[in-house]
Amino acid sequence: MRIDVLTAFPEVFEPVMASGMLGIARAKGALEFEAHDLRDWALPGVHRQIDDSPYGGGSGMVLRPEPVFEAVDAVGAMDARRAFVILMSPQGERFTQAHAEQLAGRDRLLLLCGRYEGFDERIRSLADLELSIGDYVLTGGELAAMVVSDAVTRLLPGVLGGETSIDDESFTTGLLEYPHYTRPAEYRGMSVPEVLRSGDHGKIARWRREQSLLRTAHRRPDLLEAADIELTDTERRLIEGALHEHAEDE
Ligand code: ADE
Repeated sequence: MRIDVLTAFPEVFEPVMASGMLGIARAKGALEFEAHDLRDWALPGVHRQIDDSPYGGGSGMVLRPEPVFEAVDAVGAMDARRAFVILMSPQGERFTQAHAEQLAGRDRLLLLCGRYEGFDERIRSLADLELSIGDYVLTGGELAAMVVSDAVTRLLPGVLGGETSIDDESFTTGLLEYPHYTRPAEYRGMSVPEVLRSGDHGKIARWRREQSLLRTAHRRPDLLEAADIELTDTERRLIEGALHEHAEDE
């Protein structure tokens, strides 16, 4: 997978994109990543201008279309693979694990970061998809582009050692993950549940499933409604009980 980013702040990407799992993914060749400076396609002139005041008046500056269109053409041509172009914006579809899974199946992404008060509306026509990472406004699309790059990269083949850790985790199963414990068995009066130390793998698997269901029912009941999770009658009763208790607590 190749990911290119177009941004006015390319320097913010490297520390994140070179650390931990993302750095390993690049070293292994699973991910090629490059952040490009929009100012390389700035309007001619000493100021390397990429923004301008809005038509119709109003405060703030707007990203001009020419640097972005030219940059998309130039960066697109750097590789024979067609880039799937994503515009990062608070007006986009809300980014979910399902988007991450779909995008991980593509071989090339080009992420466009908006900046300043906004970007010229014509820039939208470049995008195959517009994504928001949540209902809040960031100062620019850079953090959002890093979130998407991270969530996609960890799904690429060969990036996470045991692929099974992905199959089990929150949002892939549609449920939140069960609680994890490691040594010591007791710490500051808090003990590891006995069942996890029992060595009985059937019992452990049942406990984990039950914990996942209860956690999801308490913290994210919306996920239980949305996901098509197959539940046994016992599981259904467990969840109903948990939701009933939850309602009484409030
Ligand atoms: N740019 C500004 N806010 C954003 C958000 N919430 N998601 C994606 N890009 C953004």
